[in-house]
Amino acid sequence: MEALSLRRQLAATLFLLGSIHMNAATKMTSADFGTTPEGATARIYTLTNKNGLEARITNYGGIVVSLKTPDRNGAMADVVLGFDALAGYISSPSPYLGALIGRYGNRIGHARFTLDGVEYKLAANNGENSLHGGTHGFNQKLWTARELPDGGLELTYLSKDGEEGYPGNLKAVVDYHLTDSNELRIDYSATTDKDTVLNLTNHSYFNLKGQGQGDILGHLVMLNAKQYTPVDAGLIPTGELRAVSGTPFDFSRSIAIGTRIEQNDDQLKLGKGYDHNWVLNRSGKALSLAARVVEPSTGRVMEVSTTEPGVQFYTGNFLDGTIKGKGGKAYQQRYGFCLETQHFPDSPNKPKFPSTVLKPGQQFYSTTVFKFLK
Ligand code: GLA
Repeated sequence: MEALSLRRQLAATLFLLGSIHMNAATKMTSADFGTTPEGATARIYTLTNKNGLEARITNYGGIVVSLKTPDRNGAMADVVLGFDALAGYISSPSPYLGALIGRYGNRIGHARFTLDGVEYKLAANNGENSLHGGTHGFNQKLWTARELPDGGLELTYLSKDGEEGYPGNLKAVVDYHLTDSNELRIDYSATTDKDTVLNLTNHSYFNLKGQGQGDILGHLVMLNAKQYTPVDAGLIPTGELRAVSGTPFDFSRSIAIGTRIEQNDDQLKLGKGYDHNWVLNRSGKALSLAARVVEPSTGRVMEVSTTEPGVQFYTGNFLDGTIKGKGGKAYQQRYGFCLETQHFPDSPNKPKFPSTVLKPGQQFYSTTVFKFLK
């Protein structure tokens, strides 16, 4: 009698556990992804939603390794650039394929900034400037992963006081969700124990035809912005907010990336194409549309929404075919584009730009959603 009721209880518990799992928005599985230079094991997490979209994310650098979405006929393709194995990300970190970027996304001029009267020196890893968090940014760290009960993946990284020259112990938590509305949602949060600066983003390169399937020049792009931040020769913003109207930087109406990219324009020459920060039109801090991208041959559409004030639209100008990515595809110039939602580059040295300072007791939050339609 007792054994029977125990067995019943066990069966009921198993049923409950099973149904919780079935009700979860996203299915998640995980596997080993390789060994880091420090000898730790990186994992890869596969998130699948009810429509069959699939995102594979590793806790090494929080990298989005692959992202499969349907075309207008339902055929799936992997729409992000990356490597098949961890070794590729370790040997070629600098294009930042798919990675989480921190502590400071994009550039800080002269690799230094002053905060509360103290000057902090950073690694100059991009000419005389600091790019994407320095020599060993968050893209090269092994994050602590936790599978959330709702099917999301939580990644946590503690960046020590002084790491890459930045002040304060910073705890960064990044949650990835693949929703049943076909969104890859990234929620960033952070706290610090000393005043510091912070600019977190994701550096996925998209090609909505499918990764390795040629260049991105035919993609139609709309950027929800009236202004951008022009740059100097080192790609550091000059401080000016310049109107896009009447320039090749006007994407307020959808236009193919390639239409004006080779125009005789000083800013395009400096970036070797588009590699600039657009000042997003926004009212308040809510999640709002930053960009819409349409790939006419496949019918894939991607909408990017964010709580951030800016977006770096980068057209893969520095890719040159030397990197062999997934399936052995050579990533040539302009084979992918990035929409890196962010605070403006060099904000720590530009008092008029929205502040990137985080203080003890404050909680930093930021959300970016990549939504796939067809
Ligand atoms: C960012 C920068 C680019 C380039 C890429 C990585 O988007 O703005 O200039 O450094 O990262 O190659």
